[in-house]
This record gives sequence, structure tokens and C-alpha cells, in this order.
Amino acid sequence: MTTPAPKPARLRPRDRDAIISSLRSGVVPRAGFQHIQVGRAAEVSAMSQEITRIADGGSAVRFVIGEYGAGKTFFLNLVRSIAAERKLVTTSADLSPDRRLHASGGQARSLYAELMRNIATRSTPDGNALPSIVERFVTSAIQEAANAGTSPATVIAGRLEQLSESVGGYDFAQVIAAYWKGHDTGNEQLKSDAVRWLRGEFATRTDARAALGVRTMVDDTSFYDHLKLIARFVRLAGFSGLLVCLDEMVNLYKLAHTGARKSNYEQVLRIVNDCLQGNVEGLGFCFGGTPEMLMDTRRGLYSYEALRSRLAENNFAVGGLVDYSGPVLRLANLTPEDMHVLLERLRHVYAAGDPASYLVPDEALAAFMQHCAGRIGDAYFRTPRNTIKEFVNLLAVLDQNPGADWRQLLGNVSIDTETNPDLEPLPDELDVSDPNGTDELTSLRI
Ligand SMILES: Nc1ncnc2c1ncn2[C@@H]1O[C@H](COP(=O)(O)OP(=O)(O)OP(=O)(O)O)[C@@H](O)[C@H]1O
Ligand SMILES: [Mg+2]
Repeated sequence: MTTPAPKPARLRPRDRDAIISSLRSGVVPRAGFQHIQVGRAAEVSAMSQEITRIADGGSAVRFVIGEYGAGKTFFLNLVRSIAAERKLVTTSADLSPDRRLHASGGQARSLYAELMRNIATRSTPDGNALPSIVERFVTSAIQEAANAGTSPATVIAGRLEQLSESVGGYDFAQVIAAYWKGHDTGNEQLKSDAVRWLRGEFATRTDARAALGVRTMVDDTSFYDHLKLIARFVRLAGFSGLLVCLDEMVNLYKLAHTGARKSNYEQVLRIVNDCLQGNVEGLGFCFGGTPEMLMDTRRGLYSYEALRSRLAENNFAVGGLVDYSGPVLRLANLTPEDMHVLLERLRHVYAAGDPASYLVPDEALAAFMQHCAGRIGDAYFRTPRNTIKEFVNLLAVLDQNPGADWRQLLGNVSIDTETNPDLEPLPDELDVSDPNGTDELTSLRI
């Protein structure tokens, strides 16, 4: 489905440059989606409802499933930007052999640390927003205290009491209290130690204790409890909730060790259960992955029976019927029509929104698509990364060489089919079962 959205007016040069440079280097832009987005109207509206639920203090979980190159990462970034508009704090990370949901060698803590680095708000969209969120917690408490005629310390203690009830919440509250003390006494070191602790950057308990007087720190086992605490904390700081996007779920599917995979899927199940049953407040998860990651009954999420039954899709949604309300959200590949609209948008963005500066006429768009179809067939719109990149490259040459003719240049556009690195053979199954689900061995085998 293609949204015939009206063409946006002028673009800010900063947005234009960011979009163009991301696409040229083959990565998904982080902002300005409205200028290039095609399709996805129904999916966006489904996610929008989930965001409302989170903002109302509820929870949500979605698995965004699409083929290689279908636009999962683009969609997750788009969802993040919508969530940020609605005053949610958002964060994202790619899973990898070194970043997992469950581990015993530090990989879960390192996923947490990555999520904390990427934490963003509307006013700090590029990440690293944690210090400003903590600062906001403190300044809003000072404000509230001034309005109520009490001391900030009383307001802060009242708010932190709510955190102390949660698992791991006591130390979390102590750390925030330490930040407040640093703020109050001008102790920058204390403030930065508190933020380091919240980011999961302390390596040993001894260091954490010396710096902040707490006994615990974020580690592999407490990773998810801490995310839940962060979700509660951002609400106390005045945001509406936390949205966590985890992309490249295929990395769990690729874990060679059965025990390690199972423990990771157990963690996914815990998250799914919490979010579907409403055990968490103001917290949502969005996972991105390929169909085999979901459906492969030997290694995918479906290999874990409890997940399969929760994520099974609606049997009635077949033959063109759709259901966007379940936890699994399927992203169809883009169509040739979508691609045409996308090329129009790219031309528009390149010209910074000024039709008088378009570098190619309409007929060039169709000719470009035909050229790509001749070279790589359907892949030009199904896995559009290279097509987009080459089109922007073509515009760049035309831009810098005013005498050049697009017809001549078109013949020189060489475009390759993208290969999906995830289709490389997986390492053999290591079938010694591992009762503890420990996975040091696995990390060596990936
Ligand atoms: N709805 C859309 N509108 C405009 N451009 C899109 C859309 N979806 C995807 N794209 C563009 O298509 C390309 C591929 O998208 P993306 O990288 O999100 O795919 P993916 O499914 O995450 O791929 P992978 O399987 O490699 O992770 C990117 O250049 C992205 O900017
Ligand atoms: Mg991706």
C-alpha cells in the first residue's frame, strides 16, 4: 500500500544532508522519515496505538518481521521517532554475539550499556540522553518542591520510594539520591559516577561501592530488572514511558549452543509475558527480525513452545486478509509502485524541497527503475538499499556536473544484488546440553 502523502514543502538543510548522507552510505536515516517514507500506513497506525498504551502507563510488545532488506530497521527508527513525539524516551540496539538478552560472560550487560548509550528523547534525538533525563528528574523535583513549599529532598525521597519497591530498586534509588546530593553540593564527580552506574559502566561491585556506597551494579542477571527500573524512572522524570527497540534478533537464532539459545528465548518469553499481561508500567519492546528467526521450528522463536503459542499468528488472516493487532507485525517488501514514489521523494529531498531544482525529469525515474530491473530483477525494489544508494549517487553526479546528461549516465549505473550475510551456513549445532545455560563456549564458536 502506498500513501499518496502530499509532498512536504521545503526541508531544513540539516535534515536534507543527514538523509542524503545516510542513504549514500547504505544506512537508514535517523530522522526526517516523513520526507522519504513510503507505504506502512496500517503498520504505523498499529504501532501508534501501542505507543498510546505505553504512554498511558501500560505496556506493549511487537515483533516486526520482514525479509532481508524489507525495511525493518527503517520501520523501527520511524516508530522511535513517533514515540519521541509522544514524549516517550526511546532506545535501540542491535543484538550481536556480544550483546544478548541472557548471558554469563557480560554480553547482557553490554547490551544494556549499548541501550543506555543510545537512549534518546525528542530534544536529544541522537542518543546519550541519560544525563539530561536524570537532570530533568532533579530539576522537576526542585520545581515541584518550590510550588508545594517543601524541600526538594522531601520530594525526591517521595518519588524514590516508589522505585525502592521494585526488584533492584533500593540501590537504584540510592544512586539517584547520590546524583541529587552531587547536584546539591556541586560535586560533579558524584553526579558522573551516578550516571556511569545507571549506564551499566561499572565493572566491579567494589568500584561501585567505593564510588556510590551501593552493593550492586548492573550485571547480566539484573539487566532486565534495570530496564524496568529505567522505565519507571523516566516516568518519574516527566516522560511518558520507555520504548526499547531490539533489532537483528537473528543473532539469537544464530547462537550455536542450544542452551544459550534457550536461555535467550526464555528471556524473550519473560518480556512477552510481562508486556502482554501488563506486569510492567510504561514500557514497550519492539523486536526486529526475519521470518526464519521467528518461524524456524528448530532454531527460531517457534522452537520454544511457549513462545510459539503466544506468537502464533491469526489463522484467519490469510489470503489478503490482515490483522495488525497481534504481537507479530509483518512488513511486506516494498512494491515497484512504492519504489517509484520513493524515487520521487528522493529527488525532492535532494533538491531540498524545491521542484525548480529537480535534477531529473519524471521520465528518468521510470528509466532508472527499468535499468535496475534489467540488471538485478525484482531485487531492485524488494531489497532496495543499493537501488536507493545508486539513485542518490546519480543525483550527486548530476548536481556537480551541470552539463551531464542523465540518459548517458544511466548506462553507467552498475548495481549489484545484495547478498544476505545471514544466509551463510550456521555453525553446526553443539548438542551437548548445557544445564546452566552458560555460554562461554558459544561465544568462541560464533
Ligand atoms: N517505508 C520505507 N520508505 C522509504 N524507504 C524505506 C522504507 N523502508 C525501507 N526503506 C529503505 O530501504 C532500505 C532497506 O531498509 P532497511 O535497512 O530498514 O531494511 P531491513 O529490513 O532492516 O534490512 P536487513 O534485513 O538488512 O536488516 C534502506 O535504505 C531504507 O532507508
Ligand atoms: Mg535492518
